Amino acid sequence: MKKRLVVLAAMTAALCMSALSVQAEGDLITVGFAQVGHESDWRTASTKSAEDVFSEENGYDLQFVDCDNDPATQLEAVRGFIEQDVDYIIIDPIVSTGWDTVLTECEDAGIPVIVIDRTIDDSDKYVSWVGSNFLTEGIACGQWLKAYAEAKGIEEINALVIEGTKGSSAQIGRTDGFNQVAEENGWTILDSQDGDFTQAGGQEVMESYCKSYEGQFNVVIAQNDNEAFGAMDAMKAAGVSYGPNGDVVLVSFDGNKPIMESLLAGDLTAVFECNPLAAPDVEKVIQQLEAGEEPEKEIYMTESWFANEDVVTSIEIDGEEQPVTQMTEDVLANRAY
Ligand code: AHR
Repeated sequence: MKKRLVVLAAMTAALCMSALSVQAEGDLITVGFAQVGHESDWRTASTKSAEDVFSEENGYDLQFVDCDNDPATQLEAVRGFIEQDVDYIIIDPIVSTGWDTVLTECEDAGIPVIVIDRTIDDSDKYVSWVGSNFLTEGIACGQWLKAYAEAKGIEEINALVIEGTKGSSAQIGRTDGFNQVAEENGWTILDSQDGDFTQAGGQEVMESYCKSYEGQFNVVIAQNDNEAFGAMDAMKAAGVSYGPNGDVVLVSFDGNKPIMESLLAGDLTAVFECNPLAAPDVEKVIQQLEAGEEPEKEIYMTESWFANEDVVTSIEIDGEEQPVTQMTEDVLANRAY
């Protein structure tokens, strides 16, 4: 008899516990995140930021899809979130066009969409976008190069560009921004090819550049850190020296810790930051929506520019003087990612 009572009590407790956990799960806000992929250090930091913010402890059920840099997979992921009837959808668009139909489907399903990092340029059927100004990053790179060349007495710029994934707003903005300054200053861009934001892509493009433009280039613009690492491997193999003490000025965009270590070591000459920690701002948007408030349509991340030397300490962008920070052990130690 006693034993049966104990069993009954245990069963009742178990039932209560499971009811409680169902209730707790029911309280979670379900967020579907269609992430670009896992192509770069930047992407790893962006994913981690989202996982940290949209955790169960913080009241979220994060449904994460790594779209492996495939736009078709990304559309499928968004449609999957609609079927699941998630509360919110976050999209980091691999490419900037081709979005209106699926965003209309989200709208019809009553699911708010928040765009993170890259932009969607052919539809405005989303609540907010949180990300970087890629055009400004490209202009910053150009303005820094102009000031650096003047300070160092470099008379001619013959640049090779390793672009990011074609059709992504990061590639479009950085390319347009840099080209704008290049045109104003009569620089020669010998070539500009797609390295897909990967180390392997950067290496492959740079290997072919080293063969085709042997002895002709003095600047390499890698549109992200990983491409820069690939470019270093290719230049090393081809016997081309780079960095502040080498023959080639090498710069990159992003600024994750591994490239900042290389910047400090003198492998690169400058790095233009792209901040991957946008998830906290996306969460603010969700909390505003939960509270019935209207979030801002565009939210820009704060970004800085870094160099190995203190030759150029500031650059002018859109009439505003912006600092260029010299990379030091202290600056490196304080980097958040
Ligand atoms: O969209 C941001 C870009 O995508 C980062 O520069 C790059 O590293 C990433 O893959």
